[in-house]
Amino acid sequence: MATLVELLRAAGCVFAEEEAELLTEAARDEDHLAELRARRVAGEPLETVVGWARFHGLRMEVGEGVFVPRRRSEFLARQAVAQAGRGAVVVDLCCGVGALGAAVASRVPGIELHAADIDARALGYARRNVAPYGGRVHQGDLYAALPAALRGRVDVLVVNAPYVPTEEIALLPAEARDHEPLATLDGGPDGVAVHRRVAAEAAQWLSPGGRLLIETSARQAPLTASALTSGGLAARAVTSDEFHATVVIGTAPAA
Ligand SMILES: C[S@@+](CC[C@H](N)C(=O)[O-])C[C@H]1O[C@@H](n2cnc3c(N)ncnc32)[C@H](O)[C@@H]1O
Repeated sequence: MATLVELLRAAGCVFAEEEAELLTEAARDEDHLAELRARRVAGEPLETVVGWARFHGLRMEVGEGVFVPRRRSEFLARQAVAQAGRGAVVVDLCCGVGALGAAVASRVPGIELHAADIDARALGYARRNVAPYGGRVHQGDLYAALPAALRGRVDVLVVNAPYVPTEEIALLPAEARDHEPLATLDGGPDGVAVHRRVAAEAAQWLSPGGRLLIETSARQAPLTASALTSGGLAARAVTSDEFHATVVIGTAPAA
């Protein structure tokens, strides 16, 4: 009979030994292991099968039907950490499972953390992931989710919104294309539709001199930056070769 490693390798898992260990560790018993193995062999992301993803040194709870935080976004987390002082009000908008907010809170003590998303399933995980830092979660369409009391008080608005151009979704790896909800990926015709909506209202929510940080791609960065400028923010892009990542940072006018 084929071993777990052989089955995973035959299914195209490059790190079959490592994955076999993680699946075995996650399984409650033999029946559960068979179920996890079948899901992985069918192409579900390893992270949602085992129930957690590593992000910025933290173990984030994830599960079927949510976006798995990407290593690339650790660059956005680092940029947000650099902007957040002790006691800052930090909002993780389009938070998914809340990895960015949790990462910032784990590095900057004493922040007031809010995480918001439109998707109830993702927020179920986010609630648990931000709980160790006293984070609160809110459900709704972009800013409509946030308590009105946050208007004009947000020091760091960290956003990894969907930014894949609609026509390019078909080119994504099957793990994303087939297992992550379309609403977590689809950024509209040029990928920047959600960025434009975020940028248009950001100045109303940021504190004087507050920062909006948005993950984008190198190709889309000029469009994202232009959206921030139209929203009244001073925009600049930063990139990382290590993380293959680009972040546009907007600064609200000082008081
Ligand atoms: C690319 S995923 C990123 C999730 C998380 N920020 C991360 O980096 O792991 C985008 C997230 O945006 C959320 N989203 C999409 N449209 C939204 C909207 N109009 N309002 C709030 N959240 C939205 C999706 O539900 C999804 O969780």
